[in-house]
Amino acid sequence: MAALRLLLLALAVASCAAEPPQRERSALRAFLAGTPHERALAWNASTPACAWVGVTCDATNATVLELRLPGVGLIGRVPQGTLGALRGLRVLSLRSNRLFGDVPGDLFSLPDLRSLFLQGNLFSGSVPPDVAKLTALQHLALSRNNLSGAIPFALNGLANLRSLRLDGNRFSGSLPSLTLPLLEVFNVSYNQLNGSIPTSLARFPPESFAGNLQLCGKPLSHPCEPFFPSPAGAPTDGAGRGGSVPVSEKKKKKKKLSGAAVAAIAVGAGAAALLALVLLVVCTAASRRRGANGEVGKIAAAGTQRGLTPPSTASGELTSSTSKEIALATAAAAAAAERSRLVFVGKGAAYSFDLEELLRASAEVLGKGSVGTSYKAVLEEGATVVVKRLKEVAASRREFSVHLDSLGKVEHRNLLPFRGYYFSKDEKLLVCDYLPAGSLSATLHGSRGTGRRTMDWDSRMRAALSAARGVAHLHTAHSLAHGNVKSSNLLLRPDPDAAALSDYCLHQLFAPLSARPNAGGYRAPELVDARRPTFKSDVYSLGVLFLELLTGKSPGNASVDGDGAVDLPRWVQSVVREEWTAEVFDVELVRLGGSAEEEMVALLQVAMACVATAPDARPDTADVVKMIEEIGSGHGRTTTEESEGGRGASEEDRSRGTTP
Ligand SMILES: *[C@@H]1O[C@H](CO)[C@@H](O)[C@H](O)[C@H]1NC(C)=O
Ligand SMILES: *[C@@H]1O[C@H](CO)[C@@H](O)[C@H](O)[C@H]1NC(C)=O
Ligand SMILES: *[C@@H]1O[C@H](CO)[C@@H](O)[C@H](O)[C@H]1NC(C)=O
Ligand SMILES: *[C@@H]1O[C@H](CO)[C@@H](O)[C@H](O)[C@H]1NC(C)=O
Ligand SMILES: *[C@@H]1O[C@H](CO)[C@@H](O)[C@H](O)[C@H]1NC(C)=O
Repeated sequence: MAALRLLLLALAVASCAAEPPQRERSALRAFLAGTPHERALAWNASTPACAWVGVTCDATNATVLELRLPGVGLIGRVPQGTLGALRGLRVLSLRSNRLFGDVPGDLFSLPDLRSLFLQGNLFSGSVPPDVAKLTALQHLALSRNNLSGAIPFALNGLANLRSLRLDGNRFSGSLPSLTLPLLEVFNVSYNQLNGSIPTSLARFPPESFAGNLQLCGKPLSHPCEPFFPSPAGAPTDGAGRGGSVPVSEKKKKKKKLSGAAVAAIAVGAGAAALLALVLLVVCTAASRRRGANGEVGKIAAAGTQRGLTPPSTASGELTSSTSKEIALATAAAAAAAERSRLVFVGKGAAYSFDLEELLRASAEVLGKGSVGTSYKAVLEEGATVVVKRLKEVAASRREFSVHLDSLGKVEHRNLLPFRGYYFSKDEKLLVCDYLPAGSLSATLHGSRGTGRRTMDWDSRMRAALSAARGVAHLHTAHSLAHGNVKSSNLLLRPDPDAAALSDYCLHQLFAPLSARPNAGGYRAPELVDARRPTFKSDVYSLGVLFLELLTGKSPGNASVDGDGAVDLPRWVQSVVREEWTAEVFDVELVRLGGSAEEEMVALLQVAMACVATAPDARPDTADVVKMIEEIGSGHGRTTTEESEGGRGASEEDRSRGTTP
């Protein structure tokens, strides 16, 4: 009896070992049952799962290792929660079927998956960043589907990847800079990608990139257009490599500047006169003391890295006359390198690109504003930034950098941080974060397709409060006037309380007489010289911005009958005086449900106080903030501002920028 029981037990154990866990078996059955298939794919419930067509188990039949069902006429969506339950799966091939819908998300959590072959189906949607969880993955083939969206930067997390086939989909945007050391096969041809091919991928053949009409750069034959005409002899491949010294902590690469590179730098900076001098001095010094060149370069690099002139002790062992020459050459080299350096300010150091990369970025014009032209630049490393090319700067290099360094210290979530600048004789550039949601101006007045969206009352109140808080912070914490408050400088974020003002405090950099009207009706009447804005003139501009939010009308362009020059405050005053108050409000607001009319009237009163003709009659920004907070108290908008808001917001934006 006991013997029989033992035998039964042994049999039971044996049959367990010969079969994957029930969970895997039923997951497989659920998959097949949920996915219609044309041909009879007979998975017989009474035979062991490891014997089923396409199923391969491990040696002990304890788990399913491979599932290969290519071209078996599977049709439809892959049910969630089926294949994801095969925890030991290493190979999944469902290629050449007619599967559609999203690539099932639970596949991305299979810890041991090495190969995923889904090519030749009708999968659509995007590849989620979750794909990076497949850390064991070596082969990923998604070719010939209907996938769209951006190719995720997160693919960089797949350190074991050997082949990546994404050709024949509808992927768009720019190629992320993939630095996968083991990658041997790479194909993104026949998608809708644009921008420049990152250098890290330029080693693959042109056929890897074919059929993307807007891709440019090596290995393709058509080069990328530089996004702005670079200064004469700007850094080109090779020669200009050392053209800028990255200051970021992240990139510890210290480049030794050779004499030639120093020369290239000088040219790049457009300092042709200086070039001759530097060349002469460097060459003389080099010929006097063979081998000194490298040393000079190193010192120059170290010096520029700290933004200092190098210490004279560095050449202690040389004869005094030579050392003087070298010191001179070093100083000149440092100065020349300094000249073409992209300088990061504040927390801008989290970016780690240099001037050359910036010049190579694919870019598009965002707009021409009062300070110059803005470009959106997509860098190879994946970050997206805004580059502003300033015009008519009168400040000297020193004034410029001192001022930008101090502006770099401004931190507030309602102020767009300055990240970096570049100053040369011919070019003055500013680098800021890119906020994809665009400006208030585009949102309110843009044409359809260029960012026009409806904005409900709550978002408008929050935008007003954000602008007021930003300006108040400049006034109270930094004693600086903004000088350029307008709706095109109020950039929106997904968090409606985190809209940020840009282009602040730049007025003093510009030439005094450059005709720089604080364009479009934001300028306070008493302000004669746009270079000397006051706190009160900022308040006036804020008031105009509030009126713009209330009326939906563009300032300076407000007259109802279209006969021109009546500005927004005067138009509103005239309407309110005749007691048509309700007439001033944006019809869109009224249509969206006018339950907030009391709040609208209250903000209108604040706005009218701000645009008072006499500067002294206008409230201070701190009071403006308080008044708006009080209006919004019914909506939980009273929450006092988080003092450290700036940090979180900019990180959020950066990460968004990284995976465009
Ligand atoms: C595993 O399953 C296959 C197919 O059913 C069978 O042929 C094989 O003998 C089994 N191996 C073990 C160790 O049970
Ligand atoms: C399933 O397998 C069992 C035994 O292996 C067999 O008797 C039965 O006919 C099979 N059923 C089908 C539908 O093939
Ligand atoms: C591809 O996907 C889009 C939606 O993303 C859909 O409109 C289109 O019909 C799909 N094409 C095919 C061939 O399935
Ligand atoms: C690239 O394509 C994306 C989306 O398709 C678009 O938003 C972007 O403006 C394009 N960039 C360039 C430089 O053409
Ligand atoms: C990439 O795929 C396309 C077809 O989608 C093919 O024509 C091309 O040869 C492939 N390129 C490489 C390098 O394999």
